[in-house]
Amino acid sequence: MTTPITHQQIVLGVTGSIACYKAADLASKLTQAGAAVDVILTDAAARFVTPFTFQAVTGRPVYTDLWDERGHIRHVQLGEQANLLVIAPATAHTIAKLAHGLADNLLTVTALAARCPVLLAPAMDGGMYEHPATQANIRLLQERGVTMIGPVSGRMASGLTGLGRMVEPAELLAHIRLKLGENGVLRGRKLIITAGPTQEPLDPVRYLSNYSSGKQGVALAQAALDAGAAVTLIAGPLQVAVPLGVTHIPVLTAEQMKNAVLAAIQDADALLMAAAVADFRPAHQAEQKIKKTDQGPEMVIELTRNPDILAAVKAQREETRRPHLVLGFAAETQDVLAYGQEKLIRKGLDFIAINDVSRPDAGFAVDQNQITLLGREGVIAEIPLQDKSAVAAQIIHYLAQALV
Ligand code: PMT
Repeated sequence: MTTPITHQQIVLGVTGSIACYKAADLASKLTQAGAAVDVILTDAAARFVTPFTFQAVTGRPVYTDLWDERGHIRHVQLGEQANLLVIAPATAHTIAKLAHGLADNLLTVTALAARCPVLLAPAMDGGMYEHPATQANIRLLQERGVTMIGPVSGRMASGLTGLGRMVEPAELLAHIRLKLGENGVLRGRKLIITAGPTQEPLDPVRYLSNYSSGKQGVALAQAALDAGAAVTLIAGPLQVAVPLGVTHIPVLTAEQMKNAVLAAIQDADALLMAAAVADFRPAHQAEQKIKKTDQGPEMVIELTRNPDILAAVKAQREETRRPHLVLGFAAETQDVLAYGQEKLIRKGLDFIAINDVSRPDAGFAVDQNQITLLGREGVIAEIPLQDKSAVAAQIIHYLAQALV
């Protein structure tokens, strides 16, 4: 699976903190994500974790010494070739040196030579982090465009609890992905994506809903972020985590989703409706829990029709001309192409992604999907059965082509 991290040249600087062990995990995760990771250890870092650990997880030489032949030649090369310089953990001492342009070891020399974005993950004792000198140095670096990730609160090596722990490698990885995706083809574009089911309450403890997990919509949000878009995700209850960098608007009912969508699309470039919106809701919502003793042997629930969100979008769009593109989904079990085509026209869509949900291995709740992507002129792509993230990347690819 290709992400913005794939094929990137990343310099990972590691400075002397107990959090060095997390840097080994980060180096491994970046390598697994397809990056070429060049690790530079300071002398202090090499006391916590050996260069061999990093060499083993990256499969590349590790740099420690400015004065050996390799280090001296490489510092300019490493800095100039890198797509991103990450320093994790970044100690108060290294942050101070970077803020003042000191260049006394291979890492600080490389940082001065680097022309790529720089991302620092501070790690230090809480008192050191809060010290006015450290805070001033951090501000100075931020003013120069350096991105600070963390620190977070928690237990520190000293045994004290405070603000100074390095963020976890998985979170750093998400920040790195976001940073590297920033300049993608959808930079400057705003996408609204819906995901998950709606829940239509019957009484305080019961609701009508469906099996949508939100996986497909969330995968679309991640793919759009990877392409550099600003993404707002309007979603019913999700069974998967919302990607870092997404603006998440949680909703429950179709009515709430409609209102959130109509507000969000006013300045949007595209709307992608992957949510499985309930077409009907209970006509009456009981204020108290319905008791089985209140009912006879049968219970009839009267339903009333929910608003069709895409129909409301169509009406608003005729006046505002936003968003520029609307993509709907069609979950069909028979005559998928014919029903999909009919929905595209009726709902005023530019694209429709039709999934045949009669297949047990595609559609609702599972990890994979198979899509026929239709435009107004006919079939644009047959996206074969694969992971929902790969399906999402292809849908975003076609959408981006239509937007530029
Ligand atoms: O969430 P997952 O578990 O990953 O599953 C993904 C999915 C199968 C839910 C997704 O890929 C999908 O197909 N979503 C749309 C499901 C659906 O509701 O299809 P539909 O044919 O009923 O609706 C057609 C379109 O109209 C959809 O874009 C839907 O969001 C929209 N709609 C539906 C009803 C309604 N009241 N208002 C709407 O705008």
